Amino acid sequence: MDYPLSRRPRRLRTTPALRELTAETQLRPADFILPMFIADGLDQPNPISSMPGVYQHTFDSLIRTAEQALEQGVRCVDLFGVPLPADKDETGSQAWAENGILNRGISHLRKEFGDELLIMADTCLDEFTSHGHCGLLDGDGGVLNDVTVDRYVEMAVSQAAAGAHLVSPSGMMDGQVAAIREGLDSAGFHDVAIMAYSAKYASAFFGPFREAVGSSLQGDRRTYQQDPANRRESLLEVQLDIDEGADFVMVKPALSYLDIISEVAEFSPVPVAAYQVSGEYAMIQAAGSNGWVDRDAVMMEALLSIKRAGANQILTYFATDAARLLNQG
Ligand code: PBG
Repeated sequence: MDYPLSRRPRRLRTTPALRELTAETQLRPADFILPMFIADGLDQPNPISSMPGVYQHTFDSLIRTAEQALEQGVRCVDLFGVPLPADKDETGSQAWAENGILNRGISHLRKEFGDELLIMADTCLDEFTSHGHCGLLDGDGGVLNDVTVDRYVEMAVSQAAAGAHLVSPSGMMDGQVAAIREGLDSAGFHDVAIMAYSAKYASAFFGPFREAVGSSLQGDRRTYQQDPANRRESLLEVQLDIDEGADFVMVKPALSYLDIISEVAEFSPVPVAAYQVSGEYAMIQAAGSNGWVDRDAVMMEALLSIKRAGANQILTYFATDAARLLNQG
């Protein structure tokens, strides 16, 4: 005998058409931001072993890879610079040098793509400092806040001058967003937007990124990035960045922090981005290439989950591949 159920939720799952009709979340290629690495002194792209499929780029391969992303409907790239080891110093001065590798990468992209492709620049010193920290150090190895923020302002202005549409302060210094906004405005860059890394955790999921940028870091970033134990602290960080004028706020990493994304999405009046970081990418690639999971299916499920949690934009090394799958239906 049939049960007299008044509700049968399976009814809406019976056919692909019904499932599509009732899907609450959709990914679009334009949701994705592709992080990329431009490296100095290369004559060919250098594969990053812990991130299969991701490269340190030459100027040529940077343009080609950005072109492939754009062809699939990805409209934004996030550029990181990898200087020659000999060009690193205590203050990270190549970060704001007009001919520093990151600024040369930005202007190359801008010349090639104009406004077709949004160019976002990483605004942080860690790739450029000899000690690998995101800021300047005091005599005891502590990371100084306010003088570091001054360097970020100089860096952001140089990135805007090189052609960046967006700057993205990722160093978790207090007051960085307000200072950068003021610096950009007084240099005439009112339309350069700030994507603030607002809730950024001191995460082991960043592991492969350290190889990607040839990081010199010893130790950790726990005096400036957040403790993974904390939730409330993220709400404060995000609120401060909104008050300081952030155009976007970001949560990073993504998959282990869906609760944070969701809470931020509840109250943020500005778009909320999430960064699926290097370790998240590496784990999916590794399990996929071992045949332990279906790589494409897991990739799309992870991205969908990040969007369902409330992220509007997703920074992901999968951007082009995921967009291609979406375009193929
Ligand atoms: C530092 C920075 C990091 C990442 C982006 N910007 C590393 C860190 O904070 O140690 C990590 C990105 C990733 O893991 O994919 N400015």
